[in-house]
Amino acid sequence: MNDSLNLDKFKQQIADMYSQRSSNYDDEGDFHPSIAHHLVEYANIQTGQKVLDIATGTGLVAIEAAQLVGSNGRVVGVDISTGMLDMANTKAKAAGLDNIEFKLADAETLDFPDSSFDTILCSSALILLTDIPKALRRWHQFLKVGGLIGFHGFAETAFITGVILGKVARKHGIGLNFHGITGTQEKCSTLLTDAGFTDIEIKSAQYGSYISLERAKNIWAISLKHPLSSSLRQLSPEQLIQAKADYDAELEALVTDKGIWDDVTIFFTFGRKGTNNKSLL
Ligand SMILES: C[S@@+](CC[C@H](N)C(=O)[O-])C[C@H]1O[C@@H](n2cnc3c(N)ncnc32)[C@H](O)[C@@H]1O
Repeated sequence: MNDSLNLDKFKQQIADMYSQRSSNYDDEGDFHPSIAHHLVEYANIQTGQKVLDIATGTGLVAIEAAQLVGSNGRVVGVDISTGMLDMANTKAKAAGLDNIEFKLADAETLDFPDSSFDTILCSSALILLTDIPKALRRWHQFLKVGGLIGFHGFAETAFITGVILGKVARKHGIGLNFHGITGTQEKCSTLLTDAGFTDIEIKSAQYGSYISLERAKNIWAISLKHPLSSSLRQLSPEQLIQAKADYDAELEALVTDKGIWDDVTIFFTFGRKGTNNKSLL
């Protein structure tokens, strides 16, 4: 599907999964649009700026940014999913935007000239990257001095079904920690400082809600198919039956009269490329 990118198996699975989801992605609810909007809002994008939207998907961030930078600015959105990029292109055309460009590219092997962008944003995608610290160091080079980077991380408590899945996986000797790397504000801050960014600012937001036990139990099947859970699929059929029973039991213990609290704490994290920054690559 993405022949020109030569993706590894994990990334090809991710690209295919999002291409399959692409035509419905914008109708899945307000979750991704709301996060993307807040990321753009907090970034305080100005007219004339050059903006890079990493893992742009259907262009939620890129299109809003293109409207803000105006005709003197420019926005580039990159993604590995052709389906998502097709949607992004269609939307940008419909919005009459000619200051936006979408490219099929892997966020981890991007190759822009140094100091190309005023703002680099990455919404709802960081966790899908293979080597986040290395990617951040690479993106640092693409920013102009004084430029802003913004992403959001999920807290280690976020998505109760993922938290329980991780707990059950560990019981079966499998390490699954979906949001370990961005799990706290300190971890988000460290990610940016280690990549050479300064002036770190973090805004925490709660996107959680109560979900039914039935829905939480059904998420098992979806989670098991996700490329990030591939290690779980190595369990034997008997182990998987036991793991599912453990998962259900853990969820049942969390039920309240409102359902199960599904925490979705998000850390909107921003940093700047300071002066005298040497490349950390
Ligand atoms: C949950 S969607 C988020 C899309 C968009 N940023 C948003 O806020 O709605 C995740 C996106 O990340 C893309 N993605 C995952 N890994 C990537 C990579 N290594 N390079 C570029 N895009 C990637 C997927 O193809 C998908 O479009």
